[in-house]
Amino acid sequence: MKVQAIKYDPPSFTDELYQRALLLLDTESATKVKKFYRREDACRTLIGRFLPRMLLHAQGIPLKDIKFAATASGKPYFAKPPIAYNVSHDNGLVAMVSSSNTHNPPAFTIGVDVMKVRVPGREPFKSFVKTMSEQLTTLELRLVSSATNEKQGLEYFFWIWTAKEAYTKALGLGLGFDFRRIEFNPALDVLKVDGAVPKGWQLNKFTIMQGTDLYQGVVAEFVGGEETTVVAESGPHDWLEVIDATVFIQEAIQGLGSQ
Ligand SMILES: CC(C)(COP(=O)(O)OP(=O)(O)OC[C@H]1O[C@@H](n2cnc3c(N)ncnc32)[C@H](O)[C@@H]1OP(=O)(O)O)[C@@H](O)C(=O)NCCC(=O)NCCS
Repeated sequence: MKVQAIKYDPPSFTDELYQRALLLLDTESATKVKKFYRREDACRTLIGRFLPRMLLHAQGIPLKDIKFAATASGKPYFAKPPIAYNVSHDNGLVAMVSSSNTHNPPAFTIGVDVMKVRVPGREPFKSFVKTMSEQLTTLELRLVSSATNEKQGLEYFFWIWTAKEAYTKALGLGLGFDFRRIEFNPALDVLKVDGAVPKGWQLNKFTIMQGTDLYQGVVAEFVGGEETTVVAESGPHDWLEVIDATVFIQEAIQGLGSQ
């Protein structure tokens, strides 16, 4: 399993870079990117489209040989070659997980979610938690509300949220799955679905600093077997690579443009 995280800083991502990159995308992807009103949203999606293309480029597979498809619930996958991946983006970060997972082709049971740790808008923390409470289990709500301080409460909330998103994205369902059926205990790192620990899952937590902003991310992958493990965010993550967006897109233009 490997995670590539692209740090996106809007002021340093020039219009010229954006336009040159756009020319290398297929019509469907370029149309989706151009539909965004805000350039920042367009750039995040653009970067997210280049990540799987560069993954295969690094394996010597040219653009013309890549075929993309999506499941009925919208999960994108490679129709050719069959390699598991999933993408997530939020604010200044775009991340892709890829793996040699062979469970449930063609979309495979793998998902990633990244989020910037902050209260969105100007809402106070308490009212934010109240707004989100319908998506939380009783235990999750108690952990978030009784955290020692707001910082810990927010971090707990985003571990819970990214774990739920990563798990449902792995299933390919996203918000189509009732989030209250999933319970993630961020204090003990325990995942439960419908009240029991599901068998054969691996969750990997990670954090990334983008300037002064903290991002939390979770990869959820069905690996088979009886056990389910949650790997904490601390400790060495040799599977995590962090790259600057301008460097990444310049390399993509160079690599894919010369094909
Ligand atoms: C798609 C969805 C999972 C995205 O979650 P999010 O946290 O808002 O956004 P993220 O940045 O983490 O992920 C977005 C990426 O996930 C991928 N994605 C899209 N649909 C997906 C799905 N069903 N499952 C897994 N991954 C999906 C795409 O690569 C997408 O990137 P793009 O929008 O640039 O193409 C969420 O919006 C959702 O659940 N949508 C509705 C799906 C649904 O309800 N289907 C109904 C049938 S069950």
